[in-house]
Amino acid sequence: MKKVILVTGGAGYIGSHTAKALSGAGYLPIAFDNLVYGHRWAARWGPLCEADLADLVALRQVFRDYKVEGVIHFAAFAYVGESMAHPEKYFRNNVVNTLNLLEAMQAADVRNIVFSSTCATYGLPSEIPIPENHAQHPINPYGESKLFIERVLHWHHVAHGLRYAALRYFNAAGADPDGEIGEDHDPETHLIPLAIETALGKRDCLEIMGTDYPTPDGTAIRDYIHVTDLATAHVRALEKLLAGGAGFCINLGTGQGHSVRQVIEMVQKVGGSEVATRESPRRPGDPPILVAAPIRAGEVLDWHPRHSELSTIIETAWNWHERQRGKNGSQHTIPS
Ligand SMILES: NC(=O)c1ccc[n+]([C@@H]2O[C@H](COP(=O)([O-])OP(=O)(O)OC[C@H]3O[C@@H](n4cnc5c(N)ncnc54)[C@H](O)[C@@H]3O)[C@@H](O)[C@H]2O)c1
Repeated sequence: MKKVILVTGGAGYIGSHTAKALSGAGYLPIAFDNLVYGHRWAARWGPLCEADLADLVALRQVFRDYKVEGVIHFAAFAYVGESMAHPEKYFRNNVVNTLNLLEAMQAADVRNIVFSSTCATYGLPSEIPIPENHAQHPINPYGESKLFIERVLHWHHVAHGLRYAALRYFNAAGADPDGEIGEDHDPETHLIPLAIETALGKRDCLEIMGTDYPTPDGTAIRDYIHVTDLATAHVRALEKLLAGGAGFCINLGTGQGHSVRQVIEMVQKVGGSEVATRESPRRPGDPPILVAAPIRAGEVLDWHPRHSELSTIIETAWNWHERQRGKNGSQHTIPS
């Protein structure tokens, strides 16, 4: 019998790629998603439980319906700008609803959870690359909500023996190399899909926010990690917990940074078409450079990125976006 893993946010971007990786590794992923941002078509490697984490009855029911061995918890709101305007929305969904999940897990005696944390918990880093023991001082409610849950997990570990892995991703990017799923956020705020959509003529112009950063070309530098590499790391972390591993926090990044201009150049090279740009001031709260120290993930999970060369990330993303456009001119179509 396949081990059942509950994947909250399993119809979303990283959740659906992880469900595919889980299925490939012999698990049965159950997607638990309210489809606020997720897509029914993306939950294709196991059953979809269409429900909200605010609904404790539905949560308890899913643990009764399936013998869940572990949970991978992606479901959250993740728009930094929106979190500045509506912090209450982020604390309700990312914090309170995670407490619901933990309560339902405890009632069902499920003790393993892999949690989507983020480099946003570090705030403005004083050290690059950023090690896991760097001070965590988030500068927006989104990062604060994720840090709060890291602390909650720690105390559940101490009090109840919960086994957890908090994975602090840097910038997730790229698409399934088989082309079955990819990134489809609405609204989209991530650089790579925005640049590709501009190159494909879906958008008039890409805004470069900040050209006066203290970086070689003046634009912000980020650490892009392929979503398939992230998915593999989640399976490894889960297996570590299932084998009795205790609580740990790990960066998931490559240790390599790319500037906004370097990303745009690569999109133009891969796609063979120009990305029209417009320069604008820095966005408040955007650090100049965010790059992971990725050593611990290798040590603890024996995990190393395999698909995270910038060219591979952009080729897979490009193929996904082009294929979606080819269907009927819209990205919001159902892949066959
Ligand atoms: N994308 C990145 O670069 C990145 C970086 C760091 C951390 N993260 C974290 O990774 C996770 C996944 O990110 P993503 O890019 O796949 O986002 P996403 O929006 O594509 O996926 C999140 C999914 O959760 C679902 N969801 C949200 N609230 C829910 C609720 N209350 N009940 C049920 N379902 C709910 C949404 O419908 C969506 O399908 C998030 O927790 C995010 O904070 C993402």
